[in-house]
Amino acid sequence: MKLWGGRFTKGTDKVVEDFHSSISFDRRLYRQDIRGSIAHARMLGKQGIISTAEAGAIVAGLEAILADIEAGKIEFDIGAEDIHMNVEKLLIERIGDTGRKLHTARSRNDQVALDIRMYLKEEINETIALLAKLQETLLDLAELHTQTVMPGYTHLQRAQPVTLGHHLMAYFQMFRRDIERLQDCYKRTDVMPLGSGALAGTTFPLDRESVAGELGFAEVSQNSLDAVSDRDFAIEFAAAASLIMMHLSRFCEEIVLWSSAEFRFIELDDAYATGSSIMPQKKNPDVAELIRGKTGRVYGDLMALLTVMKSLPLAYNKDMQEDKEALFDAVDTVKGCLLAFTPMVKTMRVNKETMARATLGGFVNATEVADYLAQKGVPFRKAHEVVGKLVLECIEKGKTLEELNIDEYQRVSPVIGDDIYDAINIDKCIAARNITGGPAPGAVADSIKQGRKWLSEIKGG
Ligand code: ARG
Repeated sequence: MKLWGGRFTKGTDKVVEDFHSSISFDRRLYRQDIRGSIAHARMLGKQGIISTAEAGAIVAGLEAILADIEAGKIEFDIGAEDIHMNVEKLLIERIGDTGRKLHTARSRNDQVALDIRMYLKEEINETIALLAKLQETLLDLAELHTQTVMPGYTHLQRAQPVTLGHHLMAYFQMFRRDIERLQDCYKRTDVMPLGSGALAGTTFPLDRESVAGELGFAEVSQNSLDAVSDRDFAIEFAAAASLIMMHLSRFCEEIVLWSSAEFRFIELDDAYATGSSIMPQKKNPDVAELIRGKTGRVYGDLMALLTVMKSLPLAYNKDMQEDKEALFDAVDTVKGCLLAFTPMVKTMRVNKETMARATLGGFVNATEVADYLAQKGVPFRKAHEVVGKLVLECIEKGKTLEELNIDEYQRVSPVIGDDIYDAINIDKCIAARNITGGPAPGAVADSIKQGRKWLSEIKGG
């Protein structure tokens, strides 16, 4: 008979039993479920709701079940529906009627909310640790490349010169925001729902704070209806994970481009690339592509969670059982991607010469010529037009700005002197952009220093 079978006169249809069982995926929550039950039982004992001896027997029984699950000795039962009832059923089988007292003053509705919150708190911390590792890699690489010049792009057209260090530090900032979003999501996950019961609290004198304390929660929930029907924290995580994936996918896209023969800015280590089954010459950036592709899955998880929760009347509805697979998938995917991505970036080889060469001949210093004229008093809009004409002339003659002689310069503007060649030197162009947040080696070194400080604080705290 089912643990809830009292008011039923016949068994569940076999199809329905398979259909509504969640044990195949929520078994993942066994540790949280048992830890939560142990805290609940201890508190019931302390409050005199059950006897201390009964509480002791329940705790010992649960600990033994935990050990057996961990040792692979337990086979879960689909008929017992989910992880909560599987554990309770095992407990009753082992310690008899005392086991039937565990569920006093509790519902699976507050129990499942507790389990997911405990699970997600751990996963948020692990995701933050993986992001921090990636950031450390970026800081180390950026430090090596504060002088490695490369074209910066807009519209994927060469625009202005930057350094690889500056480019990498852009990603550092994105991942910093990702960590901050996760830290923020953690705060709203860190709320203990037990005591909310099915929806309307309980008549028993529970000590909710002591359960929260034992399980390491910062606070207890303040409305029983909300506590059992809230999955905002899961949606927030999926949203934060979606942004992480979006950032990774942009980086991956650049890695794919940069490792192509057309760019040749980087070469991936053999351990992070794959070959083709037919074309012997190929070395494909599959890892980067797969991460780029998996971004779609995580967006899908976010949409699934949002859609499951849309329009649900308060409080718990069985629809909410659908939260788990999407959340687990978002967690697994983002962690798996970070695990593969960081060493791929760490081991890639940078072709400094190709990057530097790409800054020549593409007019990435045209803005500098316009700035030069503006500094000599020519209104910027006018200067822009003059340089536009110069670029056109260069294209017609097959020359670069560096290759124009002084007569050619002075023909378009008499204020141009010999110092123009200095002004358009790529290294000098970059060094001159010495503004907070700019690409000059000193400015990037400052941002690396700041980044290291921030990172060491979040690791400490
Ligand atoms: N397996 C269920 C879930 O994941 C647990 C809660 C069931 N509650 C209920 N009233 N049927 O949501």
